[in-house]
Formats: sequence, structure tokens, C-alpha cells
Amino acid sequence: MRKCFFLSLFVGLLGIANAQNKWVVAGPMPGYVEFRTAKIWVELGAGAKNAAIKYWKADAPKAIQTKPFSGNFNSHFKTIQITLTDLAINTTYNYEIIVNDMPTKKGGSFTTTNLWQYQKQVPEFSFLTGSCAYFNEPGFDRLFTDMVLLNQPAIPYGGDSTIFETMAKEKAAFMLWLGDNWYTRDADYGSEWGLWYRAHRDRSLPVLQNFLKAMPHYAIWDDHDYGPNDADKSYILKEQSREVFMNYWANPSYGLGGQGIYTKLGYADCDFFLMDDRWFRSSDYMNAFIDGKPNAEKRMWGQQQMDWLKNQLLMSKAPFKFIVTGSQTLNPVSKSDCLQDYPIEYNELMDFFKTEKINGVLFLTGDRHHSEVIKMERQGLYPLYDITSSPLTSGVSKVQGQELTNEARITGTLVEALNYTRISISGKGRERVLKAEFLGINGEKLAEWSVSENELRVPPVIK
Ligand SMILES: [Fe+2]
Repeated sequence: MRKCFFLSLFVGLLGIANAQNKWVVAGPMPGYVEFRTAKIWVELGAGAKNAAIKYWKADAPKAIQTKPFSGNFNSHFKTIQITLTDLAINTTYNYEIIVNDMPTKKGGSFTTTNLWQYQKQVPEFSFLTGSCAYFNEPGFDRLFTDMVLLNQPAIPYGGDSTIFETMAKEKAAFMLWLGDNWYTRDADYGSEWGLWYRAHRDRSLPVLQNFLKAMPHYAIWDDHDYGPNDADKSYILKEQSREVFMNYWANPSYGLGGQGIYTKLGYADCDFFLMDDRWFRSSDYMNAFIDGKPNAEKRMWGQQQMDWLKNQLLMSKAPFKFIVTGSQTLNPVSKSDCLQDYPIEYNELMDFFKTEKINGVLFLTGDRHHSEVIKMERQGLYPLYDITSSPLTSGVSKVQGQELTNEARITGTLVEALNYTRISISGKGRERVLKAEFLGINGEKLAEWSVSENELRVPPVIK
């Protein structure tokens, strides 16, 4: 009798634990974490009626605070973001997600940023970056078409996802997703629910979960997580897509005036300008030149965002100013879309760099299904570099034609394999050095490139 009682108690408790586990279907994932606030993202299951976060300083586990989720669950999937405030600087916190007033055992930790400004040496740090994450879902996948034509067994487009387990073990300050972070399929991007479904389904995959909670995550989008391949400003569900983005990424902000998803992130002494290369974009197929002159109508970032970028760059004192965007920017022989295919905007930006003597500019891009560093010499100015990081899990696209011998590529930086990038910033103030390492599925180094802040300075005018 007594045995029976304990057995049913055990089964009952197991049932409650399972139900609690189902209440959290993805995450938790820290988003924007800064000096005194932290956004925590999580997606809950259908049975969730309410949610909260319990959090405490790692060195004071008994001083627990609770912050409830005060918003409404959205109508499609239950993504929530809770912003913790009044935190201590440079402090590690642990947290646990509470659902339906019950602990879920789902949680993690985050560390608020260090207030070094005007006080101490700037900290060294590293961050991860990458683009193009395709997760297979049989029945909806694109397949390598040459295999289909040959009646060979179909190979889906997505590769080994265990790269995220490797990335979860990195001690990085944050992950910066460079777009095509999921791939909406033909069956997804024709409906609002389809856009939500793709983000929800990919985000909840078990292989991602350790990585999501391991560090803060920030993102831009590119065509595939915005809409159809090469999608532009005419995409009819762009507003719904922006809503999905805002619900699946806890960025510092999302565009200005309800337009686009661009934002700025500062970390230590570096600034990151996260550009939206889809919301304002003219069609890739619009003529770049009319009567030999750049077509003023063909823009990639759009006037509103370009003005914002220019003013942000003027405000920035960062030794490295990362302009982060999906499409490559400087590759002179790209077979894909590139900022250079939008000459009115490209020329405007290059003139601005020159006129305003902007130091420390670097581009960080994705999309290409290979990684490389492109260098562009400029007369009388420091060279510009574009670090392209791709693909995390989608099909590798080997370079062809003119790109085989691309003289703009830094020798030894081409990577044609699944990879992610670790960027490390080291050295004292005014002597900062950036190292970019392209790393494979198991973290093995595939290529490396470095540059110092002193190599990215406008030469002083000699009188
Ligand atoms: Fe793309």
C-alpha cells in the first residue's frame, strides 16, 4: 500500500516535471545585455498562462528577485522578452524561467558589462559571428537540384548542425548573427503564420539550445529570414516579417520610426552598426547605371538608414567601427549582390568616409556560403576590409569564374566549408588589435587574419 503511494507520487511528480519542461519550447536566450539592464528571451508552449524570471547574483544565491512578464502573448507563438533592470555593473547573474507559477529548471547566466570608461583599461574580449543557418525539415527542404535532375537520392541543403554545440563552448562576449539566420521556404513566406512557423520551428531545435543560453545574441536579417530569395522593399509581408524578427531577437532596438530593423550595439570600445539590407532595398534587378551614370533610384540601405549610419559614424570614437550587413560590400567580382551593385549608395558612402575622415571602418558581412576577407585599397586613405563569414549550416558554394583568382581577397582567407568566425579584440587603448579566425565544425582553425587600429587611420595631413 505504502509502496503504491510512493510510486504514484513519483509518477505524479514526473508528470508535473514533464509538463513544466514543455512550457519552455525554446531558449532561454539572453539578448541585449549592458551595464544595468538585460533582456532575456524565451518561447513558451501552448499550456503557458503566465511567466516570470527569478534571478540572483551568482555570489549571493539567497537574494532572489522576481520579474514577471507583463505583456500579452502574441497570437501565433508565445515568444516573450523580460527586461531585468537596476542590475549591478560587471556582475554575473543566474536566472530561472518560471511558468504558471512553477519553476521550470530552464535558466542560465549572464554578466553585465564593465564600466571601464574614464576609469580603467578597456577590456579585451572576443565575439562570435556567422550567417546562413539552414535546418532541414523533410517535405519542405530545397534539395541540391543537380542530384534531383540525375535521379540521385536527394541531398537536403542543410549540413551538420553540431557546429552550434561547438559554438556553445566558446567563452565569447556575444554572438552576432549576420542574416539568413533561418531559411523561410516556399511554404513559409506566402503567409504570416508561415513566417512565424519557420522562426519557431528552427529556434526550438535541440541542437541550438545550449548555444542560445551560452551568451547574448544579436542579429540582422538577410533575404531568407526576411522573405523570399533576394527579397526587397516590395515584399508584401515585410511588416509581418519585422514583427517576427522583433519577437525572435532581443536586440537593443529595431529601426527608427517603425521602419526596418537597424540598430547599434556598443561593446567595450567597439561599435557595431547593424544594418538592414532588405527593408529599403530596391530590386537587385534594377539597372545600376542609366546612360553611364549611377541610377539614383537603386538603393540598398535607403536614404533614411544611410543618414542614420553617417551620423552614428560621426558620433563614434571606436577604434573599430563595424558596419554589419548581409550582402558583401567591397568584392569587385562578386557573382552575388554586393553594395557595389548599388553605385549611388556605394559612392555616397565612400565620399563620406573621405570627406569626414572616418577612422576604423570595417565591414562584417555574410550570405556568400563561403568565408573570406576582401581588401580594397584607397588612394591617400587606409584600406577598407570586408570580413565575410558564411555558412554556418547551409550548403557551401565554392567560388567560381573570376572569383577563383580574386585579387581583392587576402591570400589564405578563403574558407569553403561550414564555419563560424571568432573575432578577438586585444591590446591596450590606442593599440587595439583585431584577430578574425574562421573555425570549422569542431572549432578547428581554417584561416586567420589580423589588423591593428593603427592600420585603419586616416593619415594626418602634412602641411
Ligand atoms: Fe542571403
